[in-house]
Amino acid sequence: MTHLRSLTLNENAQPVCELPVLTGSTGPNVIDVQALYKDTGLFTYDPGFNSTASCRSTITFIDGEKGILLYRGYPIEQLAEQCNFLEVCYLILNGELPDAPQLSSFEHNITMHTMVHDQLTNFFKGFRRDAHPMAIMVGVVGALSAFYHDALDIRSKKDREMCAIRLIAKVPTIVAMCHKYSTGMPFMYPQNKLSYVENFLRMMHATPCDDYTASPVLVRALDRILILHADHEQNASTSTVRLAGSSGANPFACITAGIACLWGAAHGGANEAVLNMLEKIGDVSHIPEYINKAKDKNDPFRLMGFGHRVYKNHDPRAKLMRTTCYEVLDELGLHDNKLFELALELERIALEDDYFIEKKLYPNVDFYSGIVLHALGIPTNMFTAMFAMGRTVGWIAHWDEMIADPEQKIGRPRQLYTGAVQRDVPAGHKKTV
Ligand code: ACO
Repeated sequence: MTHLRSLTLNENAQPVCELPVLTGSTGPNVIDVQALYKDTGLFTYDPGFNSTASCRSTITFIDGEKGILLYRGYPIEQLAEQCNFLEVCYLILNGELPDAPQLSSFEHNITMHTMVHDQLTNFFKGFRRDAHPMAIMVGVVGALSAFYHDALDIRSKKDREMCAIRLIAKVPTIVAMCHKYSTGMPFMYPQNKLSYVENFLRMMHATPCDDYTASPVLVRALDRILILHADHEQNASTSTVRLAGSSGANPFACITAGIACLWGAAHGGANEAVLNMLEKIGDVSHIPEYINKAKDKNDPFRLMGFGHRVYKNHDPRAKLMRTTCYEVLDELGLHDNKLFELALELERIALEDDYFIEKKLYPNVDFYSGIVLHALGIPTNMFTAMFAMGRTVGWIAHWDEMIADPEQKIGRPRQLYTGAVQRDVPAGHKKTV
């Protein structure tokens, strides 16, 4: 491979601008276009940021062609096998895996912040019981900034760490509260003797009348879902968090912006959409009809849980999720689960279809995570909130990295204007009011 050090743009064979080429620790080089407008009066045009690196980052690396995902250099497969979610959170936030005392202190810190301010519970009452949990999440997580004024100096590393702990600790409590609110049941307080995932499952499934203890296989399955969703470099919601944070907005508001972005069906809403799609397909005999709909340009239907902006090969998270799916269905004795059978058959048919092969459309992480969540008793409308719970650590790590970056500037893309050129309001035009 040629290692460029700079790129010269020519106009009529005259060099007009020399752009440096920057090299990362791995992955493609990037052209530094910061001087482009100043030197040439031109901007770049890149809808959807297909060719644009928006920042330097040391957190996550993806090679979409090879199906590689690394958090701080460690392969996702090893992290999912050998670590638990809070170890991965520590790694993502601090750059290194914790030793035993560091992990124990981190776990203690998180546990001590799982409870939310009691006043926050009042916010829920303002929502209709049938509100979508993501609508409530956007409101309630945003409201956190009104409660924790003591550590909102974003220039202080200590305050930023406190915000990270608070968010990672409180988001599961809020997610469980969203579920309890929508089902008309009393909120369950966190219990300090339980692990992060055990505690969450108990807050979701226990009632004051009946306690709940999850089996180790189910705890491990949810822990893995959280690990697999913890970060994914500059995806839409993470870029949203960075853009919101670039103006100096407080972290709770920025994470809320990320939650809002995640809600979309093309992003975090996909796991919910997968389950809805499987239920709509209903039977393996209907699969060919839906495959044809997905291929039809005039039909808006897409195969949910298939395709990815970056992975043009197997999504490594999907493989791990598929294994977890088998483990959970085994544990619960649901081998003949209809949705899982349908998902497997859909995957098989799509992977043999020329359309999906040519376009390199493989199952993504959400194709299987929905089935696992369903088996764990999580209602379908809570799936995206579960994704938000896992991704909170990634969002906060990127926000922190951005604030600490000396090159950080307010995010402000440019545009190619295609509207009317300057014109005058007709002389006879009268105000209507
Ligand atoms: N079903 C049918 N066709 C598809 C699908 C799909 N799921 N995904 C992409 N295609 C087709 C497109 O129509 C397009 O065809 P064309 O080249 O003839 O126009 C081609 O494949 C490329 O797709 P794009 O939409 O251009 O790819 P992009 O990178 O912009 O989109 C995305 C990626 C949004 C994930 C898309 O594949 C999709 O909508 N998938 C379904 C939703 C989904 O599962 N999202 C979860 C993503 S993972 C996550 O957020 C954790």
